[in-house]
Amino acid sequence: MVHRLLYAALIEARSCERFRLLSEQLKDQELAKFYKDLMVSEANHYTLFLNFARSYGERKLVNQKWNDLLVFEAELMKDLGTKGTVHG
Ligand SMILES: [Fe+2]
Repeated sequence: MVHRLLYAALIEARSCERFRLLSEQLKDQELAKFYKDLMVSEANHYTLFLNFARSYGERKLVNQKWNDLLVFEAELMKDLGTKGTVHG
């Protein structure tokens, strides 16, 4: 379950980042606010899942698994290009 919570946290964190980028680039202020609000929601989901993982697992071990997951993801992304995409 801890692994699933960490995967969920990572997905939410990346959604948060994408919505932040969208909100910062849009000229339409109403749409920018819409995406900024989504960014805030995703940030809350990300921290919620991460905190659930920390509450169900041993904190030090969970933090290590979280860091390992981030490193693994970073290694994967090195070969995926540098162009920003929403579903890339
Ligand atoms: Fe979410």
